[in-house]
Amino acid sequence: MHINMHSLYKLIFIPFIFIFLTCSAYKPVILIHGIMAQSGSLDLLAKRINEVHPGTSIYVSNRFDGWSSLVSMRHQVKAFGSDLMNITSQHPEGIHLIGFSQGGLIGRGILETFPKHNVKTFISLSAPQAGQYGTKFLHLFFPSLWKKTAYELFYSEVGQYTSVANYWNDPYHQSLYLRYSAFLPYINNEISSPESESQSEGMLSLDRLVLVGGPDDGVITPWQSSHFGYYNFSEEVVEMQKRDIYTKDLFGLKTLHESGRLITIVCSGVQHFDWHLNISVIDNHIIPYLD
Ligand SMILES: *[C@@H]1O[C@H](CO)[C@@H](O)[C@H](O)[C@H]1NC(C)=O
Ligand SMILES: *[C@@H]1O[C@H](CO)[C@@H](O)[C@H](O)[C@H]1NC(C)=O
Ligand SMILES: *[C@@H]1O[C@H](CO)[C@@H](O)[C@H](O)[C@H]1NC(C)=O
Repeated sequence: MHINMHSLYKLIFIPFIFIFLTCSAYKPVILIHGIMAQSGSLDLLAKRINEVHPGTSIYVSNRFDGWSSLVSMRHQVKAFGSDLMNITSQHPEGIHLIGFSQGGLIGRGILETFPKHNVKTFISLSAPQAGQYGTKFLHLFFPSLWKKTAYELFYSEVGQYTSVANYWNDPYHQSLYLRYSAFLPYINNEISSPESESQSEGMLSLDRLVLVGGPDDGVITPWQSSHFGYYNFSEEVVEMQKRDIYTKDLFGLKTLHESGRLITIVCSGVQHFDWHLNISVIDNHIIPYLD
């Protein structure tokens, strides 16, 4: 029998090389920046990921830089989300998603709005996942607003044109929040909609949900919002596991937790605008989940 050495080589080595390459390559990572930031603000994070995980493709969208980050959450979710789906289609092996600050809430919006995504790990880096109620945060962009009265502007149809209003969660005006807020109560499935089921599916298809936040943040208020904890009617913080969104498993948090896929990281000594610049945070709490 005549054996063609070349075909034999192809038969044995090509599949081997192929398997080797696909196993060793790191999955692509998509980064979404925070409010008022430029996409360039994520350069250090991108560079560090590439140093530790050489060859990782990193996508940083330059959409909604600066003041344009104040456009409505739905609008941003749709635009960033269609970019993500495009990247998804080019990487059937899966991708990872990291969202910083408001970008973390946009990230959750994308996972729920595009449930056919193939995000494996989603890292929410100090994001107001349960909403926001604090004057210091407001004054970054609305110096004349105060937390006690901001609801008068935000809980209106016009107020809802801005992203901050879409996740403003005033513990003293919950019925107005449910009535006017066009984003947070919907992605929380606190208000059920035809999308409720697929929104949960989008969360449940994750391999990992990593929530990073800490008590010295200074901007996210309460800081526990980064871990889905939030104020009750007397402005005291109730941790995630005691809140309805968790106990009723409204969008998959409880299932993710009980199946070991929810990782909560409390990190002290980090101020809000340092999370994505702190090498110790990046090396210990971000990169290990990007395999
Ligand atoms: C998808 O991504 C490719 C490559 O980055 C780009 O050329 C193309 O225009 C994108 N398509 C859409 C619909 O965004
Ligand atoms: C708010 O939560 C605190 C701490 O769990 C609790 O002591 C308090 O009774 C709660 N208040 C209301 C109005 O639910
Ligand atoms: C960086 O993060 C570590 C925790 O991982 C913290 O102790 C330290 O204070 C942070 N440094 C800065 C400059 O934020």
